[in-house]
Amino acid sequence: MAITAKHGVFHIETANTLYQMKVDDFGVLNHLWYGGKTDCVMDYLLDYPDVGFSGNIYEAENRRTYSLDTLPLEYASGGVGDFRVPAISVTHENGSCALDLRFQEYHILKGKYRIPGLPAVYAADDKAETLEIVLKDTATDVRVILKYGVLEEEDVITRSVVVQNQGKTPVILNRVHSLCMDIPYGEWEWIHFHGRHTKERQTERAALVHGIQESSSGRGMSSHQQNPTVLLCEKGASEKFGFCVGAALMYSGGFQTQIERDQLDQVRLVMGIQPDTFAWHLEGGDSFYAPEVILSCSEKGFAELSHRFHHVIRNNVCRGKYKLSERPVLINNWEATYFDFNDTKIEEIAKQASELGIDMMVLDDGWFGKRDSDISGLGDWVVNEKKLQGGLNKLIGRINGLGMKFGIWMEPEMVSEDSELFRTHPEWAIRIPGRNPMRSRYQLALDMANPQVIEYIYQVISKILRENNIEYVKWDVNRSICDWYTPTLPEKRQLELPHRYILGLYALLERLTGEFSDVLFEGCCGGGGRFDAGMLYYCPQIWCSDDTDAHERTVIQYGTSFFYPISTVGSHVSAVPNHQTGRVTSIRTRGTVAMAGSFGYELDLNKLNEEEKKEVTEQVKTYKKYQKLIYNGLYYRLCEPGRDSLSAWEFVAEDGSEALVQGVVYRAEPNALRKRIRLTGLLENEKYRVEGEEEIYSGTALMTGGILLPEIKGDDVSVQIHLKRLSTL
Ligand code: GLA
Repeated sequence: MAITAKHGVFHIETANTLYQMKVDDFGVLNHLWYGGKTDCVMDYLLDYPDVGFSGNIYEAENRRTYSLDTLPLEYASGGVGDFRVPAISVTHENGSCALDLRFQEYHILKGKYRIPGLPAVYAADDKAETLEIVLKDTATDVRVILKYGVLEEEDVITRSVVVQNQGKTPVILNRVHSLCMDIPYGEWEWIHFHGRHTKERQTERAALVHGIQESSSGRGMSSHQQNPTVLLCEKGASEKFGFCVGAALMYSGGFQTQIERDQLDQVRLVMGIQPDTFAWHLEGGDSFYAPEVILSCSEKGFAELSHRFHHVIRNNVCRGKYKLSERPVLINNWEATYFDFNDTKIEEIAKQASELGIDMMVLDDGWFGKRDSDISGLGDWVVNEKKLQGGLNKLIGRINGLGMKFGIWMEPEMVSEDSELFRTHPEWAIRIPGRNPMRSRYQLALDMANPQVIEYIYQVISKILRENNIEYVKWDVNRSICDWYTPTLPEKRQLELPHRYILGLYALLERLTGEFSDVLFEGCCGGGGRFDAGMLYYCPQIWCSDDTDAHERTVIQYGTSFFYPISTVGSHVSAVPNHQTGRVTSIRTRGTVAMAGSFGYELDLNKLNEEEKKEVTEQVKTYKKYQKLIYNGLYYRLCEPGRDSLSAWEFVAEDGSEALVQGVVYRAEPNALRKRIRLTGLLENEKYRVEGEEEIYSGTALMTGGILLPEIKGDDVSVQIHLKRLSTL
């Protein structure tokens, strides 16, 4: 049993971790522990200092040391004397905002709970357990159910929250975070992932300062600017050492992560739906379901923590035919043609690609409606026969005739003002009556909270997928959303729209991915602006960034790898000079970097010279040879791109039988020693041989002494080393 409850103490044990809470004398749920196993109830660490201006609950009578403001709490509520960031805050009908949550009951259930309308980690019933702890407000009939999903073998705990209004009068939920975690002791740092369009998931690490630090998005999507993942670690923790906790919110809308270091140096982490763009009107008898947070921790540093997230996201979040299988190597025409193409040009690109061994042609933006630039056409998902004579079917027939699969781009959530759809249904676009809406990339967002909109999109897309042999869909979304207003909801419910948008999106994706289960869906948001565990429930891969420059990509992919498995990272070789940075890197370097993901090309292969074409053929072969190892192997970051003069990473088979090291040396230096990197994850007492070399190394030597990289001439030169354990040769 992973979950046990004894004398008011709840223990959640996974293979290597322990999570503990306790109901105290006043029915308040205290957080006791999250970390390595201790064989002990950790309440002896609770302290009750007498802190001025930290008041006491009424029932504590003269116990002036009992304060909600100083205790580690499992789920902190606002308005009753805990002045740190709350996990939940509400407004009652009389305008008061207090919520005083006390323990009511608990349930331990077989299997992993599900969340109506929202993605959630799933597992076989004998592989997971659920703990529900019910808390109730002392003065009203508001109940909060804390849910814990336990995947014992994975060392993963999920958390989610249900708020129930069992009273008769409505309650407004101003904030319902999915995670609240108090950590009373230690010196902590946090790592989060910030960025912008074409520069996603830049890694930032900082010591916690007193007060609140925040990473969030109010853009209606998880965003390029911040990612809904966070890592807390002990000062000095590294890839191989030190305690760290990771949290990933399984949600694709606006989110908030706040970390507060309080007056006593204690740390509180809360994470959930962005409260600034949220208010939920909960009628008596109704329930609200918060999205899920995936939680894990490690005492052995970031690599182990990443492995746990990679494993659970790949096996228990991603779904469908492609979740564990190899994906087709694709060629996408976006950077090859932008909007300027016709069927002949697409066929030419496909033809060359098929000769080089590529499996699938993906037709990007511009194939529908009036869409010769990004100013018009979104919403009109009808093939433009001026560009594609004979329609999609004819083109697909020709592509299939080359022995290739066919995939297509769509941006279903959006509409151009210059479109038939907007002219017919202007009320379907999100905007506020009497105000000019913000336009971004000239477009408006559709009201995904409106069931008619969802039905329309479903009908249009399912028709296209039913009538054509389309085996892949790139599901894009290309603007941040504001001007929140929908005619479908009454005034008092308008701030429900951002969350209802995401619920509408999820319902649509659930329907489409369920019906077209053989189609590979790739998520996209101007590159990686909606790269989150929520989208990965529907799309097993996401286009990582619109920046295809190999140098920049080593940094973006480094940040992405902390939480997200490599199989989920869409990554392509593009033309040089690179369209985003103007940088020129070799075709080999571009290939090596793109192979650390779901691999593809995005350029006109006809423009390559013979030598480069040969290289592409080799790359496709190499990728196919290593794809299983890249997807299933344990991924190690060997360098830190911002700090080191090179970037390197390694995939190691779980049984230690082989490893693939890839990397990019950023700058050549004259009269310099060759670069050395230390490998990791190999079997210490085994011998390894580098493919194509005679020399034999011991696992221990490779991990302590390391390996010398070949001499490098030029900037941004890639390396790729494959090692096999001798007994498996
Ligand atoms: C976004 C995507 C690109 C491409 C364009 C098409 O920016 O990230 O890959 O599909 O849209 O407009």
